[in-house]
Amino acid sequence: MTRSVLVLNGPNLNLLGTREPDIYGSETLASIEATCQNRGKALGLSVEFRQSNTEGDLVDWVQEAAGSFDALIINAGAYTHTSVAILDALLSLDMPIIEVHLSNINQREKFRHHSYISKAADGMICGLGGIGYELALESIAHRLGTLKEAK
Ligand code: DQA
Repeated sequence: MTRSVLVLNGPNLNLLGTREPDIYGSETLASIEATCQNRGKALGLSVEFRQSNTEGDLVDWVQEAAGSFDALIINAGAYTHTSVAILDALLSLDMPIIEVHLSNINQREKFRHHSYISKAADGMICGLGGIGYELALESIAHRLGTLKEAK
């Protein structure tokens, strides 16, 4: 049975490809999404990508995940370091949650070292660029047991 994964992206991630490429790389969010769609198929997962620059949209989408999706991947962008509202929404979910960051937030400015999201996440992948999303999908496939079925 195919399981569904919601992939949420926060502020400024729509600018990937042109935004600080030395830090975030030259891949666009659309190309990361396309790669994840393919990888998802091979793993027995259907993947839905969303992006918003607005905190409330992310809170609404996390709430919507309950009952509609089997797992969640989130790169909350700068809200990672500020948003108790997104943390609270994530804490209400009973499903695998993986936090992803393209850059290594621990090697950057001090204000990026703390993540509110991490308290609710089963795991966090950072510093590996776009491939981090694929690795997050792989860990979800292991947790949901879709890997065996997809082979
Ligand atoms: C980011 C890291 C955050 O500190 C930053 O605000 C972002 C992107 C990352 O993917 O590396 O917008 O989440």
